[in-house]
Amino acid sequence: MRPLYNPLVLVMTSFTGQIIPVGPDYAAVLAALHAASFAVAEQWPEAALRDLVVSYGTITGLAVWNDNPVGFVMLRCVAGEAEILTLCVTPDFQKCGVGAQLVAWAIQQAKRSAADVIFLEVSCKNKDAYTLYQKNKFVQSGLRKNYYPDGSDAFVMQYDSQKNSS
Ligand SMILES: CC(C)(COP(=O)(O)OP(=O)(O)OC[C@H]1O[C@@H](n2cnc3c(N)ncnc32)[C@H](O)[C@@H]1OP(=O)(O)O)[C@@H](O)C(=O)NCCC(=O)NCCS
Repeated sequence: MRPLYNPLVLVMTSFTGQIIPVGPDYAAVLAALHAASFAVAEQWPEAALRDLVVSYGTITGLAVWNDNPVGFVMLRCVAGEAEILTLCVTPDFQKCGVGAQLVAWAIQQAKRSAADVIFLEVSCKNKDAYTLYQKNKFVQSGLRKNYYPDGSDAFVMQYDSQKNSS
């Protein structure tokens, strides 16, 4: 698999790749994707991602298109509940449906792990992510004041598989 960007492949208009479960061997790839997608203050280092990927209940899905890693989702499923820990798609591959497919994959994994509810926190400033989750049937269920280092608030959102079983 290629390490990250390959300018020759920037022609994807609609995601037709795969989402594959990955483990600690992919920590460097995950860190590169995270660094490419998030602002510096929000990036997670490779060591932290390696620890998380092997932590209890964690499942990580890497989106791959034409051998290029383009995004990933990491969730933790414990005791009937799941939490999306992070989700990102590299800027060159955004707005092609990768994010939506990663969210759908996360929902599927949570169901397989018998987690009926999925929680996540999203910055009140992150309109793109909020809209993505809302379109995928997450509803706002709380607010965490001063959640982020810059003092901004986080919306708590939740997906309830019992209510979205059809
Ligand atoms: C939030 C994020 C994951 C979304 O990923 P994405 O791959 O762009 O998501 P999608 O492509 O599935 O959907 C985004 C938009 O593209 C549109 N889209 C999807 N497929 C499309 C296509 N083939 N052509 C045109 N537009 C398309 C969707 O309708 C959606 O539109 P909207 O913003 O008007 O609702 C991405 O912006 C990101 O990584 N941001 C930085 C990190 C981040 O904020 N992570 C979330 C932390 S909680």
